[in-house]
Amino acid sequence: MNDVRSDLYPPPQALRDAAHISGMAAYEKLVAEAEAGPSAYWARLAREFLSWKTPFTRSLDDSNAPFFKWFEDGTLNVSYNCLDRQVERGLGDKVAIVFEADDGRVTRVTYRELLARTCRVANALNARGVKKGDRVVIYMSMSVEGVVAMQACARIGATHSVVFGGFSAHSLRDRIEGAGAVMVMTADEQVRGGKHLPLKAVVDEAIALGGCESVKNVIVYRRTGSKVAWEPTRDHWLHDEMGAQSERCEPEWVGAEHPLFLLYTSGSTGKPKGVQHSTGGFLLHAALTTLWTFDLKPDDVFWCTADIGWVTGHTYIAYGPLALGATEVVFEGVPTYPDAGRFWKMIQDHKVSVFYTAPTAIRALIKAAEADPAVHPDRYDLSSLRILGSVGEPINPAAWEWYHRHIGGGRCPVVDTFWQTETGGHMITPLPGATPLVPGSCTLPFPGIAAAIVDESGNDVPDGHGGLLVIKKPWPSMIRTIWGEPDRYRSSYYPPELKGYYLAGDGAIRDAKTGYFTITGRVDDVLNVSGHRMGTMEIESALVSCTALVAEAAVVGRPDETTGEAVCAFVVLKGARPTGDEAKRIANELRNWVAKEIGPIAKPKDIRFGDNLPKTRSGKIVRRLLRSIARGEAITQDISTLENPAILDQLSERN
Ligand code: PRX
Repeated sequence: MNDVRSDLYPPPQALRDAAHISGMAAYEKLVAEAEAGPSAYWARLAREFLSWKTPFTRSLDDSNAPFFKWFEDGTLNVSYNCLDRQVERGLGDKVAIVFEADDGRVTRVTYRELLARTCRVANALNARGVKKGDRVVIYMSMSVEGVVAMQACARIGATHSVVFGGFSAHSLRDRIEGAGAVMVMTADEQVRGGKHLPLKAVVDEAIALGGCESVKNVIVYRRTGSKVAWEPTRDHWLHDEMGAQSERCEPEWVGAEHPLFLLYTSGSTGKPKGVQHSTGGFLLHAALTTLWTFDLKPDDVFWCTADIGWVTGHTYIAYGPLALGATEVVFEGVPTYPDAGRFWKMIQDHKVSVFYTAPTAIRALIKAAEADPAVHPDRYDLSSLRILGSVGEPINPAAWEWYHRHIGGGRCPVVDTFWQTETGGHMITPLPGATPLVPGSCTLPFPGIAAAIVDESGNDVPDGHGGLLVIKKPWPSMIRTIWGEPDRYRSSYYPPELKGYYLAGDGAIRDAKTGYFTITGRVDDVLNVSGHRMGTMEIESALVSCTALVAEAAVVGRPDETTGEAVCAFVVLKGARPTGDEAKRIANELRNWVAKEIGPIAKPKDIRFGDNLPKTRSGKIVRRLLRSIARGEAITQDISTLENPAILDQLSERN
C-alpha cells in the first residue's frame, strides 16, 4: 500500500489530556452520535457553535436531493458571528490578525478594529448600491483589507467570489462574467518576494476584454501607491470610500442557505466551476473543524499560510479562526523571501502555536535547508509550536517525518487534512488529541462525515483495495450547486451509478488493520501542481487558442519531487516540428502564452513537440500513453489499436 508506514505516533499525553476531543473513545462517541442521527447531531452543533438571529427549526432537508439544504429557516450573519460576537464576549481588545507584510513590517488588528473596518467597508458597498445577493469579485492579495472585503460582503449579504491574484486577465474576466459581478474590489499592486505585481491593471485589462458589463464600480485598496490608470466614473479608492462611512453597520440577517460565496475551481472538463457555498452550514464546519482539527485554544496563535484566493484561505483564514475569536497570522509574502528561513523566523517572532501549510512548501524548504544551513529550521526557536497541519495534496512520508521532526521538534502532531473546495472544510483528518498518526495517511473521517470507498457501481470495496472516495451522506458545509449550472453539479458530483453518494474525484484505499484512509490521487483529468488545482482541458484549450502556432495539444500530469505533479504538454505545431534552440524558443513562447491565458501557475514544465499525437483509428488521443511518456516509463500497454505507433518514439525524445 503506497509507501505508508505502519508505525503509529500516538497523541502526546499532555496534549491529549487537555484536548477538545481527548482520546479515541471521545472521537468514537461523536462518530456514534452522528451515525445514530446525522440531522440531530449537526443541529446540536449548529446551535452550540453559531449565533442565530432566528433559530432554525429543521436541520437537513433532503427532499430535493442532491440539492440539500441545512438549517434553512434559521437566519444569521457570518460577520456578526466572526466579529460582533467576539466583541460582545469581551474579546474586543484581543488581537484578531497579526499581519506581516512582504518587507517584514508587522501590524496588529484587534477584534474591535476589525469590526469597525468591516462596517465601514460594508457601508461603502451599500452606498455604491451593492445589495443582498449581488456578487462582488475580490481580486486582492494577502492583506487585512482582503479579509475585511470578504467580511464586509458577508455583512451586507453580498456573495463574494475571490479570484487568486496570480490569475491572468482572461481568467479574471471569465470569473467576473460567470458570476455576473456588480463590483470588483482590488488593489493597485501586490507585493510578493520584493516584487511589485499589478492587480488594478489586470482588472482594467479583464474589463476591456468585454463581457464584464455587469461591473458598475471598482474599489481599489492603495497598497503601494504606484500610478494606475483611472476611470473616474467607475474607479474609487477604498480609503476615500471608507473615510465617509460610519463604524457601525447593522448586519443583514440572511437565511442559512443564502450563498456566502462562490469560488471557481477546476474540473476535468470545460470551464472552471463556480462552487457555491452556503452561510450557515459553511460557517458551522469552518468553526468546528478549526476547533477540533487544530485543537484550538484561546491563547493559540494560528497561522494558515494559504492565500485567500483558494478555499483554504476562506475557511481557515477569513472565517474559521475569526468565528472562534482566535488570533491568527496573515502573511503577504512568499516562504523564500528574503530567504528560505522566512516561515521559521515568523513562527519564532509571532510565537505561532498552530501552523498549517502545504506539502509543496515543506518540500521546497527541505531542499533549501539542506542546501544552506543558515535557513535550516534547527537554527530557529520553534518551541511555541503545538500542532502542525498539512493540506492540499498528498504529503509523502519523508516530508511528513521531516516536518514532524525539524519543525515540530518531534512533539507536535501533524494533521494531514484531506478536503476540497467543494467540501468547505476538512473531511478526513486526524484529531490531534485523539488519533494515532501514520505518516502519509489522512487517517479517519471527521466525526459526522460518512466517507467510504466504493467501486464504479457504488458498492463498498474491501479494505486494502483501492476505489473511489465518496461521502455517503450530506453534510452542512457541502457545495450547494455550481453557480448557474445545476445539471453540471448533479452530473459532476452525483453520477446516477453511485447510489446518491457524493463523488470526490479522488481515489483512496483503506488499511485493513487501522481503517485509515490514504488518498491515491485524482481519478479524473484534474492536476494538482504545488497544491493548486488545474484541469488538463483548461491548459489544452489555452494552448490551442494560440492559433498562430498550435495545431493540436494534449496535457497530462507527471509526478514531480517538489511540486507533487508537473504539467506536461504534447504539442503539434502548424509549422514543422522544431528541434534544438528553436524548440526551446517556441516552448518558452507557449509557456508565456499559457501564463497570459490562465496564470503563471498553469505553465507547462515540459513541452514536447511531435508531428502528431498518438491516436486510435477513430482519431481519439490516447492519453494514457502520453502519461507513460511524460513519466519517462517504457510503454508496456497494448498499442495495437494505434493509428500511428511510430509517434511514440518521437514524443519520447527530449527536446
Ligand atoms: O486531490 C485532492 C487534493 O486536492 C484536491 C482538492 O483541491 P482543492 O479543491 O483546490 O482544495 C485544496 C485544499 C483543500 C483533492 O481532490 N488534496 C487535498 N488535500 C489532500 C489532497 N490529497 C491528499 N491529501 C490531502 N491531505
